[in-house]
Amino acid sequence: MSYFGDDFVVPAFADVELGEGQRWSTWPATTPTERGPEPRPDWVVTSAGAVDTELGVVKSGKEAELYLIERAVPGASGERPGEASVLAAKRYRTPDNSDFHRSSAYTEGRRVRRSRDRRAMERKSSYGRTVAAGQWAGAEFGALCWAWQRGLPVPYPVQISHTEILMEFIGRDGVAAPRLANAPLERDELIGCFDQVVAILHGFASGQCAHGDLSPYNLLVHDGRVVVIDLPQIVDVIGNPNGFELLERDVRNVCTWFERRGVPNDPDALFAELCADAFG
Ligand SMILES: Nc1ncnc2c1ncn2[C@@H]1O[C@H](COP(=O)(O)OP(=O)(O)O)[C@@H](O)[C@H]1O
Ligand SMILES: [Mg+2]
Repeated sequence: MSYFGDDFVVPAFADVELGEGQRWSTWPATTPTERGPEPRPDWVVTSAGAVDTELGVVKSGKEAELYLIERAVPGASGERPGEASVLAAKRYRTPDNSDFHRSSAYTEGRRVRRSRDRRAMERKSSYGRTVAAGQWAGAEFGALCWAWQRGLPVPYPVQISHTEILMEFIGRDGVAAPRLANAPLERDELIGCFDQVVAILHGFASGQCAHGDLSPYNLLVHDGRVVVIDLPQIVDVIGNPNGFELLERDVRNVCTWFERRGVPNDPDALFAELCADAFG
């Protein structure tokens, strides 16, 4: 037995045999800039002796796959915070497994520093698409950190490693929280959700940003709380020439959806308020 972390006794590495779908925790290999913002929630497992176990695929999308991962210190009861936690791993597809593309409307104004990387992306070579996948992962991780620090309801971003983001899993017992689009909600609950979405829009806009792909599919409802996900295309509304258009599209997407479900609202007035926030 040996010590890892502050106060846990865990089996020495040699005593643990990794099974299929397991790896050593990738936490110790990350640098401080690849880790989520401080103060870290107490459930984040930082022990070097922890093991990551893949529990399954939650969703397989065009550009990324979402896996459920358990990160736990072997032999620990898991009753104390920081010994075991369930995480969502969002893995961006690289050229071996996808056609990766997103509209350049989002990336205008975003700079790729290394000219070799930029040329490769422009050529859409296999290397270029790997760079692009890493950039989307980096953009999403950065956006999650930014939003978390502003107090917006996003999953806590635990770490980024290449094209994989590990974040708080929003759900219970391995079952992901429903998306707003499919959440079984009564009318008064819908009104409560609408108010939270409006607060989310204000939170982004007052930081001069728009989500850029806001819809009832990128909002989860967990215990009555709305959590916003899927942020790689976050837009700087002032710096991006399409910024206000994308902000307006976010507003219309959600307002139309709520209107159809009997929650009256005024998208023009809301958009005007958000523009005022952005110019604050
Ligand atoms: N942190 C999370 N916790 C629980 N479920 C999540 C989480 N992040 C994503 N999901 C689920 O995975 C789906 C895909 O994730 P998303 O980030 O929207 O990727 P994309 O739409 O680009 O495939 C979401 O619709 C949601 O159902
Ligand atoms: Mg999505």
